[in-house]
Amino acid sequence: MSHNTIAINQRMDKFDGHHRVWLFGYGSLIFKADFPFIERRPAHIDNWTRRFWQGSHDHRGTETAPGRVATLVPQEGARCAGMAYLITPEVFAHLDHREKNGYLRLAIDIHFEAGGSEEGLVYIATEDNAAFLGEAPELDIARQIASSRGPSGANRDYLVDLAHALREMGLDDPHVFEIEQHLAQLD
Ligand code: BEZ
Repeated sequence: MSHNTIAINQRMDKFDGHHRVWLFGYGSLIFKADFPFIERRPAHIDNWTRRFWQGSHDHRGTETAPGRVATLVPQEGARCAGMAYLITPEVFAHLDHREKNGYLRLAIDIHFEAGGSEEGLVYIATEDNAAFLGEAPELDIARQIASSRGPSGANRDYLVDLAHALREMGLDDPHVFEIEQHLAQLD
C-alpha cells in the first residue's frame, strides 16, 4: 500500500448519511485536537494496543530520516485507552489529509469510561502500509525519536506530549512510558 491513503479513506462509506460520528483517538488526537468536535469522552477499544511502530515521513521525520509515531496493533485481550470525539463528517476530510501517511479508517466499537458504547471510527496504520517500521526495542525507538524532526516539529515532542496527556488522564501505558524514560536518559 502506498503512503498516501486519502483516496482510500474517501471511499470509506460506512457512516455516509450520518450527521455525527464518534472517532477514537489514541495518539496525536489525544493531545492535538486541531478540529472542531461536539463532545469528547475518555474511552477505550478492545483487542488493540498502542505502539510506536509507524514511520512518519511527513510530520515528525523526513523521507530519508523517518520518525516514529503511534499506531495500533491487534492483540487479543488488550485494551487501548484514549479519547473519543463526536465529530461531523466534514472533519474527516481534514483528518484524512493530516493523517495521509498510511492511516486507514476502520469501524470499531468504542466503549466510554462513563458507560455505554457506540460504533465509530479509528485511524490505524496497518503493517502492510509502506511507512510501517514495525517492532523494535523501546531503547532503539527512543534513539530514533530523539534524532528525528519533521514539518510538524520534533518527534520527541510528540512522544512527550502523548505521555503527559496519558498521565493527566490517569492512564498507564508501559510502552509509551518506557520510551519516555529512555528519551530522558538520552538527553
Ligand atoms: C489518533 O490519535 O487516533 C491518530 C493517530 C494517528 C493518526 C490518526 C489518528
